[in-house]
Amino acid sequence: MSQSSGGQIDTVMQEDRIFSPSEKFVSQAQIASLEASQQMWDDAHRDPIAFWDQFAKEELHWFEPYRQVLEWQEPFAKWFLGGKTNVAYNCIDAHLGTEREDKTAILWEGEPGDQRTLTYRELHEEVCRFANVLKHLGIVPGDVVSIYMPMVPELAIAMLACARVGAVHSVIFAGFSSEAIADRNQDAGAKLQLTADGGWRRGKNLPLKDTVDAALEKSSTVEKCVVLRRTGIQVSMQEGRDFWWHELMENASPDCPAEPMDSEAPLFILYTSGSTGKPKGIKHTTAGYNLYVKKTFEWVFDHRDDDVFWCTADCGWITGHSYIVYGPFSAGATCVMYEGAPNHPHEDRFWEIVEKHRVTIFYTAPTAIRAFIKWGDHHVEKHDLTSLRLLGTVGEGINPEAWIWYHKMIGAERCPIVDTWWQTETGGIMMSPLPGAISTKPGSCTKPLPGVMPVIVDEQGDLVASNNGGMLCIDHPWPGMLRGIWGDDERYREQYWSKVPGKYLTGDNARCDNDGYYWIMGRIDDVINVSGHRLSTIEVESALVSHPHVAEAAAIGRPDEIKGQAIAVFVTIKDVEASDELRGELKQHVRKEIGALAQPDDIRFTNALPKTRSGKIMRRLLRDIAEGKEKVGDTTTLEDYSVLANLREDEE
Ligand code: WT7
Repeated sequence: MSQSSGGQIDTVMQEDRIFSPSEKFVSQAQIASLEASQQMWDDAHRDPIAFWDQFAKEELHWFEPYRQVLEWQEPFAKWFLGGKTNVAYNCIDAHLGTEREDKTAILWEGEPGDQRTLTYRELHEEVCRFANVLKHLGIVPGDVVSIYMPMVPELAIAMLACARVGAVHSVIFAGFSSEAIADRNQDAGAKLQLTADGGWRRGKNLPLKDTVDAALEKSSTVEKCVVLRRTGIQVSMQEGRDFWWHELMENASPDCPAEPMDSEAPLFILYTSGSTGKPKGIKHTTAGYNLYVKKTFEWVFDHRDDDVFWCTADCGWITGHSYIVYGPFSAGATCVMYEGAPNHPHEDRFWEIVEKHRVTIFYTAPTAIRAFIKWGDHHVEKHDLTSLRLLGTVGEGINPEAWIWYHKMIGAERCPIVDTWWQTETGGIMMSPLPGAISTKPGSCTKPLPGVMPVIVDEQGDLVASNNGGMLCIDHPWPGMLRGIWGDDERYREQYWSKVPGKYLTGDNARCDNDGYYWIMGRIDDVINVSGHRLSTIEVESALVSHPHVAEAAAIGRPDEIKGQAIAVFVTIKDVEASDELRGELKQHVRKEIGALAQPDDIRFTNALPKTRSGKIMRRLLRDIAEGKEKVGDTTTLEDYSVLANLREDEE
């Protein structure tokens, strides 16, 4: 282990395995060699303006051409100034009159087993009709529409219809509480609410409209509400405020030209919780975002016209915005969209869907992969997964053990894995292998995409040497970047642009190895400082998870008089019972894997870890528990409250 100095983060993880794409994959890939990818990267680096200019001209439809590619007045970027385009046009109309017109756009699977497919032409008609509904309800360009819906095709239709008429959508994940909806509606000044009667989740009927009713009592700016009938449960409809989706659609014309929108017109707001404080409304705009998600989708997923792409995220997260809706549709892809839980009715539901729809590209989160591992290989073995040619992950670092399982069990050692690093704020993927060009190392998101310029700095803002951990920043504006926090320029400046002058601060720690591969080391707040050595939580966790009886682990620092911080870990185990013996074995295991310094001081066994609804472990809550605090901090983003109660019981 390297010695600590000057605010760097020590790395203890040693991962030497390297995997190259197969000859077959490479022979069919769009970017098929390291040299080709390097050429793109060099072109973008030398002249980012010319690089993006060329793509923007060729790949977006312009009602009016732009005059200037970029105006950068730190921290505010404007891309393609003066141009007029429309994101819904680029996603749908652009394919009409081509061979993609009758291609399937959405292959939808409901949780109870119902199915629907929509071709690009059918999607166009639905979007136009709903766009006319929006207009009929008084929505004009710039109005904010709040969307709280299950994962049904109408959710994508609603997003695209907003884009078509120039309205700004704010999609709120349909697991959030009425409080969370009301907060977001108030902050955004939403004028219209879209929802459904209910939604299916693990066989249960979630009462979405009831939740919305409670939220609307505290959403003073929302005037009307449109309700889709999905599950058929009883709901109350308020006269004059609430309307049924199907009734409004009956009379809506399928003719609705797309509104020419300014390149920098807001496209959507998406609230992210961050680990503390009030949610931030991340603002994305039209042309730059559209171009960025289209190109990154094509590059990272090596998209071909015969692919069936499945991103398992929910449209309530940025992953769903960028890689279920806007990226894939701009590229004319066929997308699977699934409504429900991965373990309903059984733990093999995902593999059943892959087999049934002959999915070729599968994109999911490490937290899901760890759940599959825990559920057992027999669920996977039941299904024919030979259609798959490429796998992806997103949302958090993937520990090498889970990576190897994914590679072997799901990919049959045939499919490259793209570990994609990005954020709600970045709009699209920033670092990822280009699967035909870049060999992969388990646990590394490999290299920046063309036009992305990451730098790693220490507390003083100086560049760190290779292989040293530090704060990950981005050096030059890119078209998909956030344009601010909704209604709070000061917070935007403070949060992302003040700590390291002139650079976008991602909030993550990372190191770049001698081959130029990046390793994300967790959030800046997640560093543990043991006797002056700064350790990354991810590395301790990866070491624990490499033990055969550990399913999941979370490491945190708790105050310690002698060492500054001691390491406390929470683990869920498989196949055996909790015991002191196992506790001792795990301590030894970490000691052996990464060294004495990283040996955990406390090990607590638990049934489950507290997670946000997007699957991230809430270390802040664990810190409170480890410190023995009576009350823990903000829990509004916690997915399952019973987990917290259990953790407390486990203490006794
Ligand atoms: C944070 C962003 C990107 C869409 C979903 C999450 C972590 C994300 C990776 C990865 C390691 C990752 C980072 C990042 N993260 N992808 N491949 N490897 N960490 O979006 O909720 O805005 O979260 O997720 O910490 O900053 P988000």
